Amino acid sequence: MKKVHIAPSILSADFANLEQEIRAIDEGGCDWVHVDVMDGTFVPPITIGDNILKAIRPHSKKLMDVHLMVEHPETQVEAFAAAGADMITIHQETCVHLERTLQFIRSLGCKAGVSLCPSTPVHTIKNVLHCTDLVLLMSVNPGYGGQSYIHAVTDKIKEARAMLDAAGSSAYLHVDGGVSPKTIEEVSSAGADSFVAGSAVYNTPDYAAAIAELRSLAEKV
Ligand code: DX5
Ligand code: ZN
Repeated sequence: MKKVHIAPSILSADFANLEQEIRAIDEGGCDWVHVDVMDGTFVPPITIGDNILKAIRPHSKKLMDVHLMVEHPETQVEAFAAAGADMITIHQETCVHLERTLQFIRSLGCKAGVSLCPSTPVHTIKNVLHCTDLVLLMSVNPGYGGQSYIHAVTDKIKEARAMLDAAGSSAYLHVDGGVSPKTIEEVSSAGADSFVAGSAVYNTPDYAAAIAELRSLAEKV
């Protein structure tokens, strides 16, 4: 059976009860906790800072999967590593010196991820695969939870899968945006092995059941 990782995004959690919301997905069987950091510039909203990550870190033993949707991510990675991130993903579109910043993330003891917006071609990260532990393909335009999956991204997932395989890379292929029981089989079949799910977990009454359903649909392809 295919090994998959389910990463609920706390962007859709109740921010007034973050401790309980994080404990609930941890006990509900998630693999990673996806933390969406937005700066109000690269994307319109402002969400979660390193101080919030530090506060929530003790409430889960799962990997903290930090997605930086911020300009100048090289100025932020140290603070998020210190706050307890296990994986830090930066956007190709925000970072001219991508190779250096990915190496910097690794030097801080974190896995280094690179993300692409739906319109950014896969080949733009071909030359940094040697220092990439995770490729995060956005399947919505970043900024908000609860958007619809962009089906045109499915071909990009296939392309990224082929590129990683050809390079002999063992990087995770993570997909973020509109992943739900309706879309996860398409995403998994295209070659993704890791899945962010915000509204598809937090907008349901039973997080454990939602995570289990997503997992079983992703595994069976
Ligand atoms: C969007 C964020 C996503 C978002 C996913 O910019 O990066 O992680 O929370 O939410 P859903 O799963 O509801 O599309
Ligand atoms: Zn995200």
